[in-house]
Formats: sequence, structure tokens, C-alpha cells
Amino acid sequence: MENRREFLRKSLFGGIAIGTASSVAGLTQSCAGTATKKPQSQRVRKGKSVMGLRCDPLPEVRIAFIGLGMRGPTHVDAMCNIEGTKIVALCDVRPECVAKTQNILKKHNRPEAAEYTGEEDWKKVCERDDVDLIYNVTPWDLHVPICLYAMQQGKHTVCEVPIAFSVEDSWALVDTAEQTQRHCMMLENCCYDFFELTTLNMARQGLFGEIYHGEGAYIHDLRGLKHNKEHGYHNMWRLEHSKKHNGNPYPTHGLGPVAQIMNINRGDRFDYLTSMSTNQYGLTLYAEDTFGKDSPEAKAAYKLGDMNNTLIRTVNGHTLLVVHDTTSPRPYDRIHKISGTKGYAVKYPEEKVALEPHAHGFLKPEELKAIMAQYEHPLLKYIGEKARAVGGHGGMDFIMNWRLIYCLRNGLPLDQDVYDAAAWTSITELSEISLNNRSNSVDVPDFTCGDWKNAKPWPVIDMGTVSS
Ligand SMILES: NC(=O)c1ccc[n+]([C@@H]2O[C@H](COP(=O)([O-])OP(=O)(O)OC[C@H]3O[C@@H](n4cnc5c(N)ncnc54)[C@H](O)[C@@H]3O)[C@@H](O)[C@H]2O)c1
Repeated sequence: MENRREFLRKSLFGGIAIGTASSVAGLTQSCAGTATKKPQSQRVRKGKSVMGLRCDPLPEVRIAFIGLGMRGPTHVDAMCNIEGTKIVALCDVRPECVAKTQNILKKHNRPEAAEYTGEEDWKKVCERDDVDLIYNVTPWDLHVPICLYAMQQGKHTVCEVPIAFSVEDSWALVDTAEQTQRHCMMLENCCYDFFELTTLNMARQGLFGEIYHGEGAYIHDLRGLKHNKEHGYHNMWRLEHSKKHNGNPYPTHGLGPVAQIMNINRGDRFDYLTSMSTNQYGLTLYAEDTFGKDSPEAKAAYKLGDMNNTLIRTVNGHTLLVVHDTTSPRPYDRIHKISGTKGYAVKYPEEKVALEPHAHGFLKPEELKAIMAQYEHPLLKYIGEKARAVGGHGGMDFIMNWRLIYCLRNGLPLDQDVYDAAAWTSITELSEISLNNRSNSVDVPDFTCGDWKNAKPWPVIDMGTVSS
């Protein structure tokens, strides 16, 4: 048997010219391609591809909202500020939530919507023949059933994040969208935030060169909200999920914008990932401090580790790091880090850009201001001011809803399709599978069934030049 030093020498240098960047890159590529790759099962497409799906333009988008807790009313308010929308139905098991949302319609001089409050009334809502779009803002376990049923009833559907929690459910969404030829979009609002859109524009203009690494996160201290019985999530669904699952249950806020910038599903795709979580401390310590050491909350077992790091490698040899932490005493952070051959950008804790040939330091404040203005995304120029005035996470919720309605009214493909929804949310289950197996790598399915190779990257939307 060869000794360890001999083995390393051969593995690192055997047959490869030492000293060139490309040869070293080639070595890395071939290691990733052979050593860790498992064969991927071939999926037989059940319908027709919905990549770039265009549907008949809708002169007026008739919307039914299901789930009107903390989040739903924000979207109703945004939709009331958008031309060409009609709110047809409001559905929530809590009548008071429906009543509160009717008041939003009243405030905007909109007609009262039909009301539904039964546990399974969402089915009746989906069955209505005067609805075009089912807007799903329910707790996590209802996301997939409602989206599937909506599409089966011939409706387009959009759903809050994360749309799904298993690979099988992600496939079910893809299959149903392909069978019914309906839009199924996950409402990843962070893709429409101001710095994210501007860095997308910078990326598309080549400012960062080839982008080989990105980072995103959802770091948001939700200990109080998760443990809040009266004013938190309905029936404490988020805490219940933390008892049952580890991994990254909420990957898309950080991942979505970075994945779009890195052309995931449009020229590249996730290949495999590896994931690690720390122990859990935050929920227990919070419960001990708030309810007492002997309280059921303090004694409960929580599976969700405080911090999860998931590293994804793409087939083009790029990497994305996704971080989740909702139970630590830390400031809010989505990271949004873009690293390329010519430059670098990061959003949190402060928006910064560094560019060659001086990329060892960040641009000075006045230089940053100038470059942010120069590369301001055209969509922001067009609708940014109104978005800030309407609000909703600083305006990004409004931009997302406005674009959604614009695309539906003009028969355009949506900015995020069912393949994005499936790939981005599959990280929820795949991260858990990896960490339960000592962080061994796990393949990410190709939900596009090969369409990613020829799909064009999401363009920089310029409303001045866009044509329907
Ligand atoms: N994108 C974002 O920035 C963002 C922010 C917050 C929440 N969210 C997402 O929005 C969704 C809702 O979160 P939330 O904070 O509003 O939770 P919530 O618990 O406040 O609201 C959920 C609502 O669904 C209702 N509901 C439960 N079962 C129902 C049923 N069978 N039929 C109809 N309604 C039912 C509940 O009564 C509740 O009012 C979640 O998926 C969450 O992850 C996204």
C-alpha cells in the first residue's frame, strides 16, 4: 500500500501541469463530478414544460385570498393599490381575520368580498368560477394542498414562502403545473428588494465578472413570536415545526435573490448540497426565562438547531451558502453576498461593493452612492417610489405584487416559476436529510428535466422597453 504522502502527491499533482489556475480548477471539477455524484433518477415528465409559460392575458385579475393572519392583509392592501385587480373572496378559519381584511377593502373603496370561514372552505374558494388567482398565505402545512387543488380547478396560484417542505411535494407542484399549464409562483418577495435588484442589474451588466459564489440567509430572532400564544402564529405552527424538523426550514429569502443572480434553472442548476446544524439552545433558554424552568415549553424537545449552514454546489462549479437562524439574539440579516471574478457585493450589515482593480477595499460612500444610482434597476426607477409609499417590507412586497399582476394582465411569463419554487424549497428537506447523515452530500433533483440548459437567465426588466 502506498504511504499517505505518496497518495497525496499523486492525487494532487498526478498528470496535471502544476501552477495554472485552470488546471487546478479542472482537478476540483473532476473530483466533484466523480467522487460525490450519485446517479439521478430519470423523471418522466407528466405534462408539458411550463418554462416561460405564457397564458391568456387577463384584463382584470380576480383574486381570492386564503389565510389572513399576520401576513395576508399586507398582500390584500398591496393588491388594492394595484390597477386591474378585483378581490373576490376572503377565506380564513378565524372570522375576525376576515372581518379585519374586509375593512382594508372598505378603506380602499373596494366592494366587499365573499367570506369563507370553514376549515375546508378553501376548496370551495378554489372551485369558484369567477376567480383567476388563488393567493395562498396559510400556515406551512396547507401550502401544497391548496396550490395543487387550485391548479386542478384551473386557477393560477401564488403561495407564501416556503411553498413546500419535501422533494415529493415539490415534484407534485411541478407535475400539476405541467399537467394543468397554470402558473404556480412562490412569493419570494426578497427578490424584489432594492439592493437585490440593483446587484442583479450589476451582475447582468458584468460588473462582478463571473459570479462563482453567493451567500444568503434568514437570520431573524423569532423566539418571542414562536413562543407567543396570543399574538403569534395561528396555533403556534412555527414552534410546532421547530419541534419536528431540523435543517433549514426557511431558505428562500436569502437563497432566491442569489439564485436568480447566479442563473439557477436558467443556464445552471443546483447539483448537490451538504448541510450542518448546531445544537438547539435559543427556544429552550427563552422558554426557561419567560415561562420558568419547569414549564412545558422549557421541557419540550426542539429539533431545530439554532444555526444551520447549507452549502450547495452547482453543475457549473459555483457554490451558494444558505444560513438559517431564527432563535439567536442577533440582528436581522439576509447576508446577500455576491462574489465574482471582478467584484464583490454584500448587503448586511451594511450595503457595500468592492470592484477590481481596487477590490481589496470597499467603495467609498460617495462612490457607492454613484454606482448604486448608475446601476439602479429599471424596475425600481419605474415603480420604486410608489412601492416605498405603499410599503410592505420597505416596498418589495408591493413591487412583487405589482409585477405579478402586470405579467398576468399581459400574458407574460412570471418572474419566478414553479421550477424555482421547487428547487429553492427542496432545500428544506434535503438539508435535513444531509445533516441527519453526518452532513453527507445529497443530490438536488433537476426539476426542469433538462430545460435549465437552454433557458435564458431572468432578464433585467425594463418597463420602458418591455412589450407584451
Ligand atoms: N415573505 C415574507 O416576508 C413573509 C413574512 C411573514 C410570513 N410569511 C409566510 O406567510 C405565511 C403565513 O404566515 P403568517 O405570519 O401570516 O401566519 P399566521 O398564522 O398569522 O396566518 C395564517 C392564517 O391562516 C389561517 N388558517 C389556518 N388554517 C386555515 C384554513 N384551513 N383555511 C383558511 N385559513 C386558515 C389562520 O387562521 C391564520 O390567520 C407563512 O407561510 C409564512 O412563512 C412570509
